[in-house]
Amino acid sequence: MIVVPGPASQSLGNKIAEKLNAQIVPVNRKAFPDGEYSLRFEGDVAGEEVVVVQTTGPPQDTNLMQLLLMLDAAKDLGAKKVTAVVPYLAFARQDKRFLGGEAVSAETVVKLIEACGVYSFVTVNIHSENTLKKFNVPTANLSASTLLAKHFKGQGLNEAFSLSPDKGAVGLAEEADRVLGGGCGWLRKERDRYTGEIQVEEKSLNVKGRDVIVFDDIISTGGTIAKAIKMLKSQGARRVYAACVHPLLIGEAKTKILESGAEEIVGTDSISSTVRTVSLAPLIAAALAR
Ligand code: R5P
Repeated sequence: MIVVPGPASQSLGNKIAEKLNAQIVPVNRKAFPDGEYSLRFEGDVAGEEVVVVQTTGPPQDTNLMQLLLMLDAAKDLGAKKVTAVVPYLAFARQDKRFLGGEAVSAETVVKLIEACGVYSFVTVNIHSENTLKKFNVPTANLSASTLLAKHFKGQGLNEAFSLSPDKGAVGLAEEADRVLGGGCGWLRKERDRYTGEIQVEEKSLNVKGRDVIVFDDIISTGGTIAKAIKMLKSQGARRVYAACVHPLLIGEAKTKILESGAEEIVGTDSISSTVRTVSLAPLIAAALAR
């Protein structure tokens, strides 16, 4: 097996290769003055099983385009099987037409990846499993919640309460609770589809004097998780932590979350960020070794 760490997932790709004891083929990126670039595999992939690791967080268009170029090139250069490992799949939140006339972006992304001839597709905590049903090739949706929960357990937070800030992420809190054992719950969130504004419904959580970890799949502007943390603090929670799989952390998200009362923000290396990081390498390597 050959691992190709894409430009957006250099560190994670290298760690995965190390865990698998697999050969790495680096990709050289040459930029042109007009903003275009060329990618070149610096090694032979003909006849090999190739794993391309490339996340598609911001800048999504560039990272997605690079992913497609690498997948297509690997196949064109004679790779036997090409697996796309895309820890964070861009556009996955637009998995249906919320408003009439909208592009269903997640489906377009799936079609593009599949058109590159991939043998299989691996991702982590995709926003909606429905997106994977659009693939015709085998897919795996890995979950990082256990890894995140084990990190907190290692920090002495066993028996912390696990909370998801909306119903969509309840699986993350339930999975974390199997490690932490302090119980779990979820909040109800509504997003205005025109303004993007969110409302988190007030809910009594019985968290007085307790440590709580709020688990979400994505932290983007930080609005969702900050609202949940403020609610927990107002109900007397002791220490509150923000945990997510994909720390996009746009603009002032980090400040917003810490100012809402969070002790710390913990994410994974699905996206490179400045928050405390738990690596996805063992999870992804184990899935690829199966
Ligand atoms: C959406 O439903 C996701 O699960 C996250 O809750 C959302 O993307 C977080 O966005 P933000 O950090 O901007 O509130």
